[in-house]
Amino acid sequence: AQLAPAAQPLAGRHVVVTSGPTHEPIDPVRYIANRASGRQGHAIAAALAALGARVTLVTGPVTRPDPAGVTTIHIESAREMLAAVEAALPADAAVFNAAVADWRVAHEATQKLKKEPGKAPPPLPLTLNPDILATIARHAARPRLVIGFAAETERVVEHAREKRLRKGCDWIVANDVSGDVMGGAENTVHLVTATGVEDWPRMPKEQVAAKLAARIAESLA
Ligand code: CTP
Ligand code: CA
Repeated sequence: AQLAPAAQPLAGRHVVVTSGPTHEPIDPVRYIANRASGRQGHAIAAALAALGARVTLVTGPVTRPDPAGVTTIHIESAREMLAAVEAALPADAAVFNAAVADWRVAHEATQKLKKEPGKAPPPLPLTLNPDILATIARHAARPRLVIGFAAETERVVEHAREKRLRKGCDWIVANDVSGDVMGGAENTVHLVTATGVEDWPRMPKEQVAAKLAARIAESLA
């Protein structure tokens, strides 16, 4: 059934969301990854769609299904994620929840790395990945509202404030990952904006998503 306009405050808006980990190839069978499950990012995409937004979700490899009513693009590496986000622009808002690998292996092997008797382990030097959030925050087609996450284990709000300025985004959702947050069901976050910090109580990730989607709708109204 068609919802009343008040329930669809994001009708006509396009929002890009990133979610999940990235996988950075070492060789054809190995990669570097992290513990992100996509639970928070996928919930944000679904919550935005529930408010009427057209949502493009760019996700790294996760085991969860694509959210209903959302255009989902599957990528593996940080470089692929950046290309997919740029291709999805223009957008009214963008939410960067993905746990992007900070580094990738400098020289991806085209064949599987092999052990040989007496041979030292491969050194695997790393190189920096592009910063997707910082790139889009300074993009010619920058969305009006750019939101980053900050995964921190200590001095959460202080680090998030610095990150907001350094990355050039509007809001940072600061995420205390000192407990079982990565892959867990609940999240304790602080919303850091230009005007201050809001401490949200610990709540299910779906509720964090709904609250954030409502705030995005208010801000774009
Ligand atoms: N991010 C990104 N591209 C990267 C690294 C991070 O888009 N290559 C985004 C994340 O999606 C998140 C925000 O930047 O929205 C902050 O990520 P985080 O890992 O907390 O910050 P970093 O700048 O990578 O700093 P560090 O990991 O050293 O704390
Ligand atoms: Ca990082």
